[in-house]
Amino acid sequence: MRFSSPSLALVVALPALVAAHHEHIVGRHPGHPIEARQATTPSPSSSGSVVGTGTTAAPTPSTTISVSLASTNPTAVPLTAIVSNQPSSATKPLDSTAVPGSTPTFISGAPPLPNPATLAPASYPTLDRLPPIDSPEVQEWIQEVKNTGIVIPDLEPTVAGGCPANAAFAADQSRCWWTCGGCVRDTDITDCPTAMDWGLTYDDGPSFYTSNLLSYLDEQNLKSTFFVVGSRVISFPAILQTQYMGQHQIAVHTWSHPSLTTLTNEEIIAELGWSRKVIKDVLGVTPNMMRPPYGDIDDRVRAISLAMGLIPVMWTRISPLATFDTDDFNIHGGSTTVEQVLLNWKNILGNVSTLDHGFIVLEHDLFEQTVEVATGYILPDALAHNPPFKIQPVVSCLNKGLSEAYIETNNNSTNPPALAAAISAGVVTTTSVSPSSTGSGGTGNAGTGGALGLASPSLAFMISLVGLVVGAYAV
Ligand SMILES: *[C@@H]1O[C@H](CO)[C@@H](O)[C@H](O)[C@H]1NC(C)=O
Ligand SMILES: *[C@@H]1O[C@H](CO)[C@@H](O)[C@H](O)[C@H]1NC(C)=O
Ligand SMILES: *[C@@H]1O[C@H](CO)[C@@H](O)[C@H](O)[C@H]1NC(C)=O
Ligand SMILES: [Zn+2]
Repeated sequence: MRFSSPSLALVVALPALVAAHHEHIVGRHPGHPIEARQATTPSPSSSGSVVGTGTTAAPTPSTTISVSLASTNPTAVPLTAIVSNQPSSATKPLDSTAVPGSTPTFISGAPPLPNPATLAPASYPTLDRLPPIDSPEVQEWIQEVKNTGIVIPDLEPTVAGGCPANAAFAADQSRCWWTCGGCVRDTDITDCPTAMDWGLTYDDGPSFYTSNLLSYLDEQNLKSTFFVVGSRVISFPAILQTQYMGQHQIAVHTWSHPSLTTLTNEEIIAELGWSRKVIKDVLGVTPNMMRPPYGDIDDRVRAISLAMGLIPVMWTRISPLATFDTDDFNIHGGSTTVEQVLLNWKNILGNVSTLDHGFIVLEHDLFEQTVEVATGYILPDALAHNPPFKIQPVVSCLNKGLSEAYIETNNNSTNPPALAAAISAGVVTTTSVSPSSTGSGGTGNAGTGGALGLASPSLAFMISLVGLVVGAYAV
């Protein structure tokens, strides 16, 4: 399936392509409105000499890039108007509004849709802040993780600032820290199995501009996966219901969008738990996939996610310089331009043509600019692509029905829950939990996992079900 279409000709007049695909660096979104905790972290340009990254200076706004696309949306916002600090325009009303109490017909066994008016924001943590870990809810989820018997690797949290600020951790292959080198494990979803399949994803919503994206997706009969932030769900529950009832896949993207590897085990549980809960409260079902903000995952975050029934979904990365990140997020803050984002997209297409499998790309529905570049340019170009792409949610590109995307409705016999899949793949190990055991026969290699003590020395037995050490998976 290699091809070279003249219609995809790319005219470039800029110093170099090297600016295109820097890796996601922890805290690299300088303009992110929901990242108070990241305020002091460095900008991408300060992360130059990091293990496994190809980071270079961001393009200057004066850079001239001309990209010819196979097609654009005739009603697209002109490229010159898609800029940082552009005046915001009106959003489209939702095409359809979900009716509370109606039952989704496309997911067998799904419960009726809750009434979003009954959502009580006061019973959730403060928006866009790390939730406290001493609430009854978080304590219950900590117990839930303990009950799985999963060994949480004893890895010290990273400090804010990504790879440069964590040189020793960045160099430590055994931690499998995606941020610094792109390490993945067998259970991570990083692409679609079938060539020319695109597992479409949008992160950080729902937002004011999500309705504009939904309107275009409806028009083109496209379905996507949305990795939603719990705090945004509190603000826009009706949009989440419309996405779900429109047969898009809903998945977890934390409560307040932190870099998960910087958190303690309990904080990670709080972030994933509250976002899982608010989605369940609004939709009646619980997602079984998650995407870590910034792609910031290591074996500790993986083990906790899997123990909470959440399978990590990344985006395709074929080399340090070629991660399938459009960098659309950074138009809003001004550290990239829409022209550069389209050049990144053309590079992704070039890389796609060399793959014998499908792919997943990082895009966002948070900002007006990200939605405008998607609906005006990237999606129309993708729809005109030859050979054609099969554009679909991640769960669909894995050849599973939408019901397989939720804990309550997935067919447990054909889609083993995250934890079972991870154990059989050898990505995590478990202890046998014996509540009555008080002996001191514990093993020394179990993670202390911070205060969680998930594999405490009081356990009489520690059985590695698969006999594999997590760190044995080099990438
Ligand atoms: C793949 O992407 C990289 C980084 O953007 C780019 O330099 C390279 O030309 C692309 N490969 C192809 C075959 O287009
Ligand atoms: C699968 O297991 C979950 C609990 O892990 C349960 O809630 C759900 O109903 C089960 N699915 C089916 C189709 O039985
Ligand atoms: C799960 O899928 C298998 C294979 O398609 C089918 O035989 C079985 O009845 C399904 N079980 C449930 C609970 O839907
Ligand atoms: Zn995000």
